[in-house]
Amino acid sequence: MSTLGAAIIGCGSIAPLHAKAVASMEGAKLVAVADSHPAHAEQFAREYGGEAVYDYTELLGRADIDIVHICTPHHQHAQMAIDFLRAGKQVLTEKPMAVDVPSAKRIAEAAAVSKGQLGVVFQNRYNDTSVRIKQTIDSGILGGLRCMKGVVTWQRSEAYYRDSPWRGKWATEGGGVLINQTIHTLDLLQWFGGEIASVKGSVTTDVLDGVIEVEDTAHACIQFENKVRGLFYGTNAYLVNSPVELELVFEQGTLLQRRDCLYLWQDGHETLLCKPSSGKVEGKSYWGTGHQRLIHDFYTHIREDRHFWIDGTEGIKALEVIAGIYRSSASASPKPAK
Ligand SMILES: NC(=O)c1ccc[n+]([C@@H]2O[C@H](COP(=O)([O-])OP(=O)(O)OC[C@H]3O[C@@H](n4cnc5c(N)ncnc54)[C@H](O)[C@@H]3O)[C@@H](O)[C@H]2O)c1
Repeated sequence: MSTLGAAIIGCGSIAPLHAKAVASMEGAKLVAVADSHPAHAEQFAREYGGEAVYDYTELLGRADIDIVHICTPHHQHAQMAIDFLRAGKQVLTEKPMAVDVPSAKRIAEAAAVSKGQLGVVFQNRYNDTSVRIKQTIDSGILGGLRCMKGVVTWQRSEAYYRDSPWRGKWATEGGGVLINQTIHTLDLLQWFGGEIASVKGSVTTDVLDGVIEVEDTAHACIQFENKVRGLFYGTNAYLVNSPVELELVFEQGTLLQRRDCLYLWQDGHETLLCKPSSGKVEGKSYWGTGHQRLIHDFYTHIREDRHFWIDGTEGIKALEVIAGIYRSSASASPKPAK
């Protein structure tokens, strides 16, 4: 098996998950790590291997790099992804693809004409619970889906924003709780529901006023083309990071995701359908367990020259929902999602 050379750009809090996933694969090697903060690159290279560089553009022409993991602040994603795609590299970018829909579309356009592929890290699509929910919807085993809700109540402190000053600002984070923390749940809701007819929502800053420019709390009502209704509530204003809760009401039963377990409620009985695997979870528990699965799957697709399914077209959808929430919050009326 030939070896796929990997590079990680941005050596902050999410980067170790990517490095460990690369190290866990046969036929993959971390060749270089880049961070504009030299101490971050050097420390990361000592811990996880690879050559430390401070300017990612030095890696564009490197023949020993096949796959690039973009783990930088949100506003950096678009330019970096486009540069590497133009250089013919395979690009796996952390969420969100970009700070807004137009920038995400530019990345997707670059991917369409590149030798390389684009993958977007929505690792929660790989959770056992998400896979089981999607199978239940697609199989119709519980009848049609009628409505669903997603609730994310997390905590982000002043220190979180102080430690990485790109967070909490429109120009560099592109939004607040919507684009950074709850984008995964919004992505799941749109993945489960299908084509969106309209989005109405609102955003507020409930407790982080004076700390962040962006919202820490949001709600939305998502109306799907197939008449399914999705309700969403997300906040960083809680005092703990609770597991994400989902409820999907079908014609013949209800699926409930609580404490990362999935239950079926039917005919007055609750049945446990799946629970988290007992293996060690890398990173924070509320990031979910799917990172390693998604990264392995991306590498498998590259190795087998198959199109990776969470591409630019898929990656942009949650950003469109978020844009719809911001627009309707500003004008207080339902707006098309696109
Ligand atoms: N999928 C998930 O569940 C998940 C979880 C956490 C973070 N993330 C995402 O990962 C990305 C990074 O977040 P983080 O929490 O690791 O941020 P961070 O602030 O901890 O790290 C970002 C790193 O990028 C470096 N950097 C900044 N500009 C750079 C440039 N021009 N070139 C190279 N390096 C540069 C910084 O010096 C820093 O080391 C974000 O997109 C975030 O949303 C995803």
